[in-house]
Amino acid sequence: MNILVTGGAGFIGSHTLIELYKAGHTAVVVDNLSNSNPESLRRVAEIIGVPEIPFYQVDIRDCEGLEKVFSAHRMDACIHFAGLKAVGESVEKPWEYYENNIGGTLVLVDVMRRHDCKNIIFSSSATVYGDPVEIPITENCPKGQCTNPYGWTKSMLEQVLMDIQKADPEWNVVLLRYFNPVGAHPSGRIGENPNGIPNNLMPYITQVAVGKRKELGVFGNDYPTPDGTGVRDYIHVCDLAAAHVAALQCFSQSPSHSVTQTHIYNVGTGNGYSVLDMVKAFVRVNGVDVPYSIKPRRAGDIATCYCNPAKAKAELGWQAKYGIDEMVRDSWNWQRQNPEGY
Ligand code: NAD
Ligand code: WQD
Repeated sequence: MNILVTGGAGFIGSHTLIELYKAGHTAVVVDNLSNSNPESLRRVAEIIGVPEIPFYQVDIRDCEGLEKVFSAHRMDACIHFAGLKAVGESVEKPWEYYENNIGGTLVLVDVMRRHDCKNIIFSSSATVYGDPVEIPITENCPKGQCTNPYGWTKSMLEQVLMDIQKADPEWNVVLLRYFNPVGAHPSGRIGENPNGIPNNLMPYITQVAVGKRKELGVFGNDYPTPDGTGVRDYIHVCDLAAAHVAALQCFSQSPSHSVTQTHIYNVGTGNGYSVLDMVKAFVRVNGVDVPYSIKPRRAGDIATCYCNPAKAKAELGWQAKYGIDEMVRDSWNWQRQNPEGY
């Protein structure tokens, strides 16, 4: 298939491009580079062994720009990563998050349907479960109250896409609810490249390990978890990337199979690790020190979040292959080789 990858220069998008090409697909990337560097695409091409990845520096809110891309390429499906993703920033700038993430997706979907491309995989998030009513979380777990505008954009966009699919069953919609992506391509050539102070745990750990930050603040050690620190379902980004390729099979099933159905999958490993588990694994596997101190809880955090990934295994034949040791090894390998990012 030829796949439009929005946000393809970013962390998860760049890794997904590699898995797509490995599986025999081709891709066209649209990204406005608001949170990425085109060097990632150059390195992806190098890893895949192609001269270049077709790339358009276009904002998904730019209808005319997208029209040109769709006129130049026949697309079979879209994997839609483009969006703003910083939780704290979304609290400060809710309008910008709703406008970019929701406004952008509405424009994208409109252009797609005009070009008769009605297959979409959307990057959703475990955040749509809010404080989950069951652990491990299955896809039947009700959605919950998000604690920030970023999370609401994901929850609302799920609804928007489901409603569009219901009204026009020619649409095939796949919602992938990612848990906590970490790691990097084992080559160390591409990885997560946050601007400024990292919000997420793993890039903070790697920046402490490389000497860019003094110590990790552990946000709370009084949660009802085995060691008191927050528990999450960390997933290697290469496993997450592979889940997108597996999800493409939803588009080749007979139409009767997918009528009035949106496919929803949790994408995690099913294992919960605490903050201190991650720090200890990082130190053990990589042989580097990660000083930390306990800080107050971070507003909006929950104690425990991990999934039951059985549905993706049963229906897509996908399951995570990498464990915690590979996650911390590859995160460090990327950071060590690229201390300043791209
Ligand atoms: P990222 O910031 O590295 O990648 C997103 C890409 O989208 C960036 O390259 C950015 O420049 C681009 N972009 C943003 N707004 C755009 C616009 N209006 N037009 C065109 N391009 C635009 O983030 P990521 O970690 O790769 O996340 C990819 C997707 O997965 C996002 O939708 C994110 O919300 C979602 N997600 C991420 C995580 C996570 O922890 N990383 C977890 C769950 C869901
Ligand atoms: C993980 C654990 C923190 C940083 C967020 C978004 C979610 C999704 C993934 C996009 C928690 C602790 C963290 C630090 C710490 N993104 N921590 N010190 O909060 O599970 O999920 O990213 O969809 O929507 O909310 O991930 O990596 O920020 O935190 O102690 O400096 O690490 O308290 O327990 P989170 P995270």
